[in-house]
Amino acid sequence: MKCIGVLSSGGDGPGFNPCIRAVVRTAISRGLRVMGIKYGYAGLIRGEIDEMDVRSVGGILGRGGTILGTARSEEFKTERGRLTAMRKLNEYGVDGLVVIGGDGSFRGALKLHEEFNFPVVGVPGTIDNDIPGTDMSIGVDTALNTVLGAIDKIRDTASSHQRAFLIEVMGRACGYLALMSGIAGGAEMILLPEVETSPQEVADALKDAYLRGKAHCIIIVAEGYKPGIEAVAAYLKERQEELGFEVRTTVLGHVQRGGSPTAFERLLATRLGVAAVEALLDGQRGVMIGLVGNQILLTPLEEVVSQPKCLDLRLYQMAKVLEK
Ligand code: ADP
Ligand code: F6P
Repeated sequence: MKCIGVLSSGGDGPGFNPCIRAVVRTAISRGLRVMGIKYGYAGLIRGEIDEMDVRSVGGILGRGGTILGTARSEEFKTERGRLTAMRKLNEYGVDGLVVIGGDGSFRGALKLHEEFNFPVVGVPGTIDNDIPGTDMSIGVDTALNTVLGAIDKIRDTASSHQRAFLIEVMGRACGYLALMSGIAGGAEMILLPEVETSPQEVADALKDAYLRGKAHCIIIVAEGYKPGIEAVAAYLKERQEELGFEVRTTVLGHVQRGGSPTAFERLLATRLGVAAVEALLDGQRGVMIGLVGNQILLTPLEEVVSQPKCLDLRLYQMAKVLEK
């Protein structure tokens, strides 16, 4: 192997940059050339590819986002699109690829591996923490701290006004960010996609908190929770008089995807990036690099994309006990 490519794909997250830095500098130190591919698979198909050197990744450890840019590409989902992508990899002499992204990006990487026997290694990057084969994905820890900061601030005003707040947290179909931020932020209730909770149960909990003399009621709502934050808010607002608390909603949105990566994030991203290059040099193909129990672990991409990561619902039970 003489030259590797690196790209980020799908939703970004803090920590992508330290990972890119680790990939580039490790590869160069091992005598490889490195091509930076802009805007994920979309940029690969368009041939937006530039050689990187140690200086191209200077000063990016603490920067959010991804210097390579990212994208979602419908074209790459077609055979024709992947054929063009493969042609570009050949044109630029790239003979191994590191893909930083989520499960969708890994489905794409797996296709390159299966259809062209092309050496690819995945690095888990998504704030959702919904990827099996790793305890944490890049972006999760920083997003969690961002959510926690928001909860703390909202609690201040909630207490002053004796209000209940529904706070929507990202995560797609996975309740990880909601559950962990709810526990760390001392929420009165956590609504998850993984646990059925009716608006009436939320109303009961709200009234109970009011009667027990709480000055506020913080309810964390995962974006994948059904029937969704708007429906619950409407249900509660209709019954505001009898529930005690006035109700407000806050959707945190994309603020969760930005910001300077935490120390944990930078270390995780660096370790995974270094391991991705080492894995390619060791002849590993079609695998994802993960960190499990503080050990680097390689899992076949096929396995990674064929099963959902399950939330540890014992933590949810723990939260139920503590939220009183
Ligand atoms: P994430 O990687 O964060 O889960 P997406 O699900 O949007 O984000 O996937 C990122 C990109 O990966 C898609 O835009 C597409 O280009 C590629 N991709 C996703 N699924 C497939 C698939 N089944 N086959 C080929 N490429 C795919
Ligand atoms: O997968 C990361 C994520 O931030 C999800 O939590 C969220 O549902 C989605 O991406 C938002 O996507 P977009 O940035 O395209 O609006």
